[in-house]
Amino acid sequence: MNLTDSDIREYLTGKNDAELFAEADKVRREVFGIDVYLRGIIEFSNHCKQDCLYCGLRRSNRHIVRYRLSMDEILECAGEIAESGISTIVFQTGEDPFYSDEAIADIISAIKSRIDIAITLSLGERSFNTYKLWREAGADRYLIRMESFNKKSYAQARPGTNWQERLNCLEILRELDYEVGSGIMIGLPGDSVDDVVIAISELTTMHLHMIGMGPFVAHSQTPFASEENGNVDMTLRMYALMRILNPMANMPSTSAMETARRGGRMRGLQVGANVIMPSFTPERVKELYNIYPGKNVQKDFDEDGLQAALAMINKAGYRVSFVRGDSPLKDIEKCIM
Ligand code: 5AD
Ligand code: SF4
Repeated sequence: MNLTDSDIREYLTGKNDAELFAEADKVRREVFGIDVYLRGIIEFSNHCKQDCLYCGLRRSNRHIVRYRLSMDEILECAGEIAESGISTIVFQTGEDPFYSDEAIADIISAIKSRIDIAITLSLGERSFNTYKLWREAGADRYLIRMESFNKKSYAQARPGTNWQERLNCLEILRELDYEVGSGIMIGLPGDSVDDVVIAISELTTMHLHMIGMGPFVAHSQTPFASEENGNVDMTLRMYALMRILNPMANMPSTSAMETARRGGRMRGLQVGANVIMPSFTPERVKELYNIYPGKNVQKDFDEDGLQAALAMINKAGYRVSFVRGDSPLKDIEKCIM
């Protein structure tokens, strides 16, 4: 389906939701059937050297208790993910310099030598050499959201960082043959509907293997505490539009959807998303990974609650798949090269 910017703008108004959502689900079913892929996520540190105005992990937040997992604990979590049958581990942290590049490479290779599992990293902006080291250690995929395509709101929200440098990271990751993922937060203070239209078209031209999106959720311990949350309906429309324009991308229905609206994550699956990412961060620290309020507070997606995740997926009308679930785009790229 070809969509012009004016079609996109029209759909974002919500006038044709039924048509938009049905088309997105049709496209997802053509590519993925009714399968939902699972990714087990380990949030191994909540320290961050950055100071993003929207995020609870920002370095100036003195109200949160910080934690770091040891190498052994990380390996243990990885083992739990593998035991549950899930075939992808996602490592996510703030930008925490405590773990050396080599230490992270060691974890990656230790896991890869023991378990046949895909590894996705979401460890922020790093150098070419670091990304290369981790790729060579066995990492398969990398996620780094652009957060916004409005450079002004980006600069306001992420002091001390540079939008272009973040974009460059994505280019390096692609050059290193990672599966690459990006996305935005919908409703970042300062962003308008026009910025969403631009994000949709820019992200699409990037031919991403993974697209991660969620509404901005105001966190009381940040300078954006009294800002309005991102609009969940707008986020659902963005999911649907991105699915139609990027049929082969893996797209999680994120936990921010659930935080912003009960049942939001299930709805995301019905409008184009095909991935759920249960957290396997140990119970004792899980709630401290408090990027936004409510994150990791629900108990229905932890390891014990994996059954509950499966039930939600069935209830939404889909089926859990334990396959590795690489993006089919990767296979096509291989054929072209
Ligand atoms: N609300 C919603 N999403 C957030 N993230 C960070 N802070 C918030 C927030 N307050 C998202 C960012 C980041 C991802 C890990 O979590 O998009 O890339
Ligand atoms: Fe750190 Fe990421 Fe939060 Fe920014 S959004 S403060 S980089 S964890």
